[in-house]
Amino acid sequence: MKREHWGSRIGLVLAVAGNAVGLGNFLRFPVQAAKHGGGAFMIPYFLAFLLLGIPLMWVEWTIGRFGGARGHGTTPGMFDEMWKHPIAKYIGSIGVLLPLMIGVYYVYVMTWSLGYAFYSLVGKMNFTVFSQAKDFFNGYIGVAHNSYFSSLTPAYIFYLIGFALTIIVIMRGVSGGIEKLAKIAMPALFIFAILLVIRVLTIGTPDPVNHPTWNINNGLGFMWNPRFDALKEGSTWLAAAGQIFFTLSLGIGAIQCYASYVRENEDIALAGLTTASTNEFAEVILGGTIAIPAAFAFFGPEISKIAGTFDLGFKTLPLVFAKIPFGSIFSALWFLLLFFAGITSSVALAQPPVAFLEDELGIERSKAAIIVGIILFVFSQPVIFFLSHGFLDEIDWWMGTFGLAFFATLEIFIFNYAFGTRRAWEELHKGAKIRVPGIFYYIIRYVTPIFLLFIFLYWSLTDGKAKLLMEGVSPQDRPYIILARVIMLIFLLAGIVLVKIAWNRKHRNGKIEEAIQ
Ligand code: PHE
Repeated sequence: MKREHWGSRIGLVLAVAGNAVGLGNFLRFPVQAAKHGGGAFMIPYFLAFLLLGIPLMWVEWTIGRFGGARGHGTTPGMFDEMWKHPIAKYIGSIGVLLPLMIGVYYVYVMTWSLGYAFYSLVGKMNFTVFSQAKDFFNGYIGVAHNSYFSSLTPAYIFYLIGFALTIIVIMRGVSGGIEKLAKIAMPALFIFAILLVIRVLTIGTPDPVNHPTWNINNGLGFMWNPRFDALKEGSTWLAAAGQIFFTLSLGIGAIQCYASYVRENEDIALAGLTTASTNEFAEVILGGTIAIPAAFAFFGPEISKIAGTFDLGFKTLPLVFAKIPFGSIFSALWFLLLFFAGITSSVALAQPPVAFLEDELGIERSKAAIIVGIILFVFSQPVIFFLSHGFLDEIDWWMGTFGLAFFATLEIFIFNYAFGTRRAWEELHKGAKIRVPGIFYYIIRYVTPIFLLFIFLYWSLTDGKAKLLMEGVSPQDRPYIILARVIMLIFLLAGIVLVKIAWNRKHRNGKIEEAIQ
């Protein structure tokens, strides 16, 4: 079966940038940075970018193109080609499990922004105090019933719309769907973000009489003035590494999948660098200038108390927009920006499972997309309805935080020691016009694996242990947490069984072909 390819170089770069630029850039990053030392956070952050992000980006592009040329869009087939050991393909199944399970909640959260864009435009979000914004949010996600929302129905309708769009894009294929979407969504996203940055930078001092120091300059200072004592905390360094993984979509199976659709002689060294830089621009420059500085100008240093990942974007900012002229337009721009960032990442999470069904089980694309759609839909239901019971957080921690470090650690060892760093280095440079500085050879071979191993072990022994024992979970929530675990376990086992079936089938087909010849 002939594999699909990206239509053009620019389309490829936009699609992978769309994969990486997501909710993480605009919601997660500012909160992490403000919490962990402001400007000082940039030190561990850029170190993690240099020693973890960029090297893994090149590693995953190399694995992806190598596997794609051999007919594999996902890591089971890729690892099997790289390491002739029967276990390789089973390890690879994690690279299908993670995107699927993360997709189960990411797609739902992404659709909140669609609903919020709508309510901004129809003027339903003219809040005057924070508690209103909070009620609106809690009503929307169904945690409370109040004058804003009496049921989950509106959120559910926006979910259905966003979910259907995601599956339609996937059904249309790599160049006909994902690439086309990225060509519209990414430029729009950058234009919206730049408009918002300009608006935020001209906020000035909203309340000069009562709060002369609450202004945009001090807001930027709040975000960026270094607080170096934060560097003494281990959690700062881990937060930086975790953010780098998540924002660059590394350690999941998503980058490898997109890279499998490049042509043989594509300059992946350059493409990897371009997409990583685009993501960092969107994250640090754009993401770092909008939410926190704007929130500070209106609410002062108090915002550090309310800055959970969703608080900032879905509660504080709507309140900010309600206070500025034409606020509803800027509010809509903000949520559409989140929607575009989110949907281009949602398709990146849905594509690996689809590619697995296509490449390894010979299922036709639109059928594969429908199967994956059904799975995502069914397992999103507990996320939607049990949101307040920590169901989402449980999956997010195991799949979206711990899972990435775990998978990336296995991946880099296969890359260096089963496939061979030297061979991989040549593979990376095939068709490349740029040469990666030689020092990265040693970083990839020694520094990145040690760094990864350290993070993985540290997480296992600290947060991992606490999570496993359900420390701090209320007795009412325990059944939901256990349900989440049962589901994750079933998926893990199902992945292993499917890989086994796929390889048996290929083995059999191979024998039949031999017999015919
Ligand atoms: N990088 C995305 C973000 O910043 C998240 C993501 C991870 C998307 C993995 C796809 C695959 O939001």
